[in-house]
Amino acid sequence: MKWKRIAGVVAGALIFSGNAAIFSQNAAADQGSKVFAAQKCSLCHSIRGSGGDEALDGVGARIKPDDFRKRIKTPKEVKAGSEMKAYPNLPEKDINDLIAYLMTLK
Ligand code: HEC
Repeated sequence: MKWKRIAGVVAGALIFSGNAAIFSQNAAADQGSKVFAAQKCSLCHSIRGSGGDEALDGVGARIKPDDFRKRIKTPKEVKAGSEMKAYPNLPEKDINDLIAYLMTLK
């Protein structure tokens, strides 16, 4: 009886913390889409058909979070002669939010 109750509390806590993690990921991705707009990524990039020439649809399935970070801060380290604007001074929080957003593009 006692064990059952403890197991219930533990399971409840796990479910709760799982939801909280999903919620904060969503909040970060929402914020990231605002950073994307504010930094004018869409001058060069399109998502679902709107924006510049370089489509970003599906990048979340292909690129890892750390590679996004490098790509945004130092694009020439990812691709020699990259034509992408570099964002070396973007605050870490903005970069993390942007990455959360890009990871949703699957
Ligand atoms: C001046 C144009 C320009 C701007 C502004 C720009 N990019 Fe890019 N980006 C490119 C180009 C061009 C490429 C493709 C290859 C290359 O030349 O580096 C690219 C590639 C990428 C890739 C890799 C795509 C792939 O399919 O591998 C990501 C991710 C990306 N950009 C994200 C961003 C984000 C996020 C921003 C805004 C913070 C941004 N870019 C702003 C031009 C730009």
